[in-house]
Amino acid sequence: MQKKKQKPQAKMWQGRFSKSMAESMERLSFSLHFDKKLYQQDIAGSLAHAEGLHIAGVLNAAELKKMRSGLEGILADLNTHKPLFLDSDEDIHMGIERVLTERIGNLGKKLHTGRSRNDQVATDTRLYVRDKCKILIDNIRGLQLSLLTKAKEYRETILPGYTHVQQAQPILAAHYLLSFFWALERDISRLQAVSQRSDEMPLGSGALAGSAFPYPRKQVAKLLGFSSISKNSIDATAQRDFALEYLNALCCIGSLLSRYAEDFVIWNSAEYGFIRLGDEFTSGSSMMPQKRNPDSMELIRGKSARLLGNYSRLFTLIKGTPMCYSRDLQEDKEPIFDSTETVNICLEVMSNCISGLVFNESNILNRMQ
Ligand code: ARG
Repeated sequence: MQKKKQKPQAKMWQGRFSKSMAESMERLSFSLHFDKKLYQQDIAGSLAHAEGLHIAGVLNAAELKKMRSGLEGILADLNTHKPLFLDSDEDIHMGIERVLTERIGNLGKKLHTGRSRNDQVATDTRLYVRDKCKILIDNIRGLQLSLLTKAKEYRETILPGYTHVQQAQPILAAHYLLSFFWALERDISRLQAVSQRSDEMPLGSGALAGSAFPYPRKQVAKLLGFSSISKNSIDATAQRDFALEYLNALCCIGSLLSRYAEDFVIWNSAEYGFIRLGDEFTSGSSMMPQKRNPDSMELIRGKSARLLGNYSRLFTLIKGTPMCYSRDLQEDKEPIFDSTETVNICLEVMSNCISGLVFNESNILNRMQ
């Protein structure tokens, strides 16, 4: 998606303002470059909201049909990376609404009936977290499968077990690998809990105090696959603790991967020589050809700092934000997106590294005390 240059358009809230927004303020305000990642969730939310407006009698059947095909057209265009947005589209919600209105006329504006961007963005973010929890759990399962396969392959191999980085007792390589497997099982259960706590639909909460007409919240929630609706509109629009728990769960994954990565860095050294990481996941040096740097493991270890940074960034953001919605909350998204992408790539690389891992049994036995 690229932005098209065009003269600024009036904002949807422009009515009582005599001056338009300062250019520097526009730049501060702009979030489309990151929140466009929510376009699928935003359109799913709008499709369900349009159904809700129809049930509530705000849209007739023909209007609903037109709105639906407008939104589906935008989704198809965005899925194929068509550049639809303008510099004046402050965020993904305004961008989609503007394109919709251009395509289906003033009817597009009716989509905003009974909805504020405050309950809209809270809904989108919950949908995003719920969708990503599923993908992350699948990727953890992939890593667990690599660990199981490797444990079977080396089921007889003995390793020195360490405490205090001192050789303590002999253990089986399989025992070690399965310790990783079981720790990941807890990461899965943390993500399941996060997904469950995100499973409440805020739509109908409006800006903070609900909407002025009977909005069929339960039906809209069902359409979006939410199993319940939020109970309090202030809490629904203001709270981000589902996101905080999500980043905490991602931080735990990062720190777990980092600890195993640290072992593999040491074991891959010439001094230990216990394992050999695949060539695809190490790097060499033109000056020092003896080197096989375990970059993959070092990067995974390094990314855990980034994950912790994202978690503390969101925590700091939330703690001083008064009730209900304040614009600060726009800053919740980048850490959420960044941590999601970071953990997914780390899981993929760790899983591939484990699959290609070779234990050097003669070196191990030579070094056992
Ligand atoms: N881009 C905003 C965000 O992500 C959307 C909500 C804006 N709400 C408002 N009242 N200005 O938080």
